[in-house]
Amino acid sequence: THFISTMSASADVLALSKIEVKGKPLFVRHRTQKEIEQEAAVNLAELRDPQHDLDRVKKPKWMILIGVCTHLGCVPIANAGDFSGYYCPCHGSHYDSSGRIRKSPAPLNLEVPFYDFLEDDLVVVG
Ligand code: FES
Repeated sequence: THFISTMSASADVLALSKIEVKGKPLFVRHRTQKEIEQEAAVNLAELRDPQHDLDRVKKPKWMILIGVCTHLGCVPIANAGDFSGYYCPCHGSHYDSSGRIRKSPAPLNLEVPFYDFLEDDLVVVG
């Protein structure tokens, strides 16, 4: 279990921070209003693993993900790829800023771990 304060860290620090949950890297991303609106507007029919952005977040400005590619388990790169979300360099999977798979070969969206906000600026993960 990890307690993460979202208040003291800047957006960039959080976007780059890597904490492990059960041996897997955790990605915490502070999303911009533009990213939030863009992901909420995605047509689910275009998605390989259809999931609405709002079903993947508790607070849209915080995207919390397990950083393990659903293809063969590499760690994707944040703020990269054709959808400005995550890019897996191993075989070229592109994820959006909701962690949804947008371009092959990965079959599924990045996993959202169990987490909860204990307070406005304190989240518990795992
Ligand atoms: Fe990520 Fe293959 S492990 S694309």
